[in-house]
Order: sequence, then C-alpha cells, then structure tokens
Amino acid sequence: MDENKKIIFSGIQPSGSLTLGNYLGALRNFGKLQDSYNCYYCVVDMHTLTVRQNPEELRERSYALLALYLACGLDPDRNVLFMQSHVPCHAELSWVLGCYTYIGELSRMTQFKDKSQRHADNINGGLFTYPVLMAADILLYKTDLVPIGVDQKQHLELARNIAERFNNIYGDTFVVPEPFIPKHSAKIMSLQEPEKKMSKSDSNANNFILLTDPKDVIMKKFKRAVTDSGCEIVYNEEEKPGISNLINIYASINDTSREAVMAEFEGKRYGDFKMVVGEAVCETLAPIQEKYYQYIADKSYLDSIFKKNAEIADEHARRTLKEVYEKVGFIVY
Ligand code: TYM
Repeated sequence: MDENKKIIFSGIQPSGSLTLGNYLGALRNFGKLQDSYNCYYCVVDMHTLTVRQNPEELRERSYALLALYLACGLDPDRNVLFMQSHVPCHAELSWVLGCYTYIGELSRMTQFKDKSQRHADNINGGLFTYPVLMAADILLYKTDLVPIGVDQKQHLELARNIAERFNNIYGDTFVVPEPFIPKHSAKIMSLQEPEKKMSKSDSNANNFILLTDPKDVIMKKFKRAVTDSGCEIVYNEEEKPGISNLINIYASINDTSREAVMAEFEGKRYGDFKMVVGEAVCETLAPIQEKYYQYIADKSYLDSIFKKNAEIADEHARRTLKEVYEKVGFIVY
C-alpha cells in the first residue's frame, strides 16, 4: 500500500446475480479508481442476512462476486478484495457505532422503509441496523472516498454523521468519507418499469440485465424495453423515463455525455437505438463474462485471495478498532 494515496472502500452484497445497474453504478468505477487510490473492495456477506438466504447459494454467490470483481479488471495484488465476515472487526465496530446512532435516524432510511414493506413477514433487527454495519465497514479503513450508486447516498450520509458525532466526543478518530457517485449511471432504471430502480431482487427478469446474461437474452430484453410515446431520442427523466434510461446506459458505457448521444441518434428511431444500446452492452460484457467463467472455475484461487486479503484487511481494521476501544474506555492490551 502506498501511504501517500487516499483510501477507497466499497462493497456489494452477494444477494443475487449482479445487474447492469451494479456494474455501471459501482463496479465499473471500482476499476477506474484502482490506480489512484488504495482500494478495499468487499463482498459484504453479513449484510445479506437481513433477508433470508439459502446458505449454499449464498456461499456460491460470494465466490461469484469475487470472480466478477476480478473479471471486471480489479487487480488482486493492488486491491484488497475480501469478505466482510472474514474480518470480525466489522461486527465489533458496528456494535460500538450502534450506541452512537439514534433510532430516529435509522427510522428515516428509505431502504429500511422499502425493504420492510417488501419483506413484511421478516422485519428484523438487522434490517433496521444495517446502515450502522455499513458505517463500520467504511469507517474502519479511514476511508476517504466511497464509490456507490445514488441509492446508497443516504446511508453514506449517516456514516458521515456517525463519524462526526464520534469525533466530536472523543477527538479526531474517523475520516469523514465522501461519496463518489457517477454522473449518468447513479441510478440505472428497470427496463420494463423505468420509474423504479434496476434491482437484482426484482421478480421480473425482463426488468434487469444480469452481467452473466448471454447475448441473445440481453438483446431480447433491450428489444422489449419500454420506451415512451413519441419518437425523438431526447433526455427527459419525467416525461420520457424509458428512453432517458437508455441514453444514460449508452452514455456511461461509452464514457460520453447525454448531449453527444442525442446528437448521434438525432432522427433515428427508438427501435434502432434500443438495438445499438443492446449491442454496446453485449460488447462490454463479453470479455467480462469470458474471464468470469475462468475465475469461477478455480475456487482454490478464489480462496487464496480471500484468505490473503482477510489478513491484510484485518491488520488495518484492528488498528482502528483498538483506537476506538481505547477512546471509549475499554481496557486494551
Ligand atoms: P448493493 O449490493 O445493493 O449494490 C451494490 C452497488 O451497486 C449500486 N447499484 C446501482 N447503481 C446504479 N443503478 C442501479 N440500478 C443500482 N443498483 C445498485 C449500489 O448503489 C451500490 O453502490 N449497502 C450496500 C452495500 C454496502 C456498502 C458498504 C457499499 C455495504 N457496506 C460500504 C459501500 C460502502 C448495498 O446494499 O449495495
């Protein structure tokens, strides 16, 4: 690790196969930032227990997520790619931070409200305190920057508040982290219902593109994507959410602006545009998929990465936790 570089932490839940939303909102940026920062990219398995999981599938998906990190170009020698449950400090700090977080703050989290509606039969304590564990993830590494999609912004703001509150009581301990939210792909929307977020937990598979979807499936999903009445390819989130979402996808895949996309497709038809966007997505995902299947076939390699990086992450995390324990008045040896 280069002591002069700032620190990045981010995580993804292995709670389902990853979507194009996860890729464009977060994962793609992980790769772009790896040269300029010391990066911790975590498979946040503990967060998934807030919703019932099948144990075997969870284990498989945790490996799959590491394989995807690698397939997306994250270098395992330069980035600390690790599993949350392998570093016990996350749960330990989470307990302490929970004592500095108010029920009122947690009750305001929109993700908690959404998920409690969707899983009304299992509104558990973990679902409620989930953002505290996320704050612990981030604050343990004295993180400067957190690449996330916009749906995680409220959680990051809470982490900042907790850090500031703790620092005010005990003196400078935590770095107050900043979010890194991409311009065009902060919130990729569902293909069939573009007023809601593209999500891996959606029950309708036509709403999302999985990073592992084969080409014909991707093209079919784009063909069926809901556009809007009218025929101009112009950006207007309120009146044309479907076409605006496709413009965002195309602009972020090509690292260009919405204006450039509109200029390129002026006078073209919706149907043609949908196919071009589909092709661009397939072209981006093809090499990722090829590498993904190579990595996922080699579990012992994936285990070696998890084991090595658990130690590296633990060393950093333990230092912060010790500092926190000393400040709050625990006896520390
Ligand atoms: P998760 O697993 O739901 O999503 C992982 C990342 O993908 C982003 N994302 C999207 N971005 C754009 N458009 C979409 N449709 C879309 N769907 C998902 C999310 O914003 C996220 O960045 N709580 C987090 C995981 C977490 C975490 C952390 C993140 C735990 N600890 C510490 C950062 C730092 C979550 O559930 O993300």
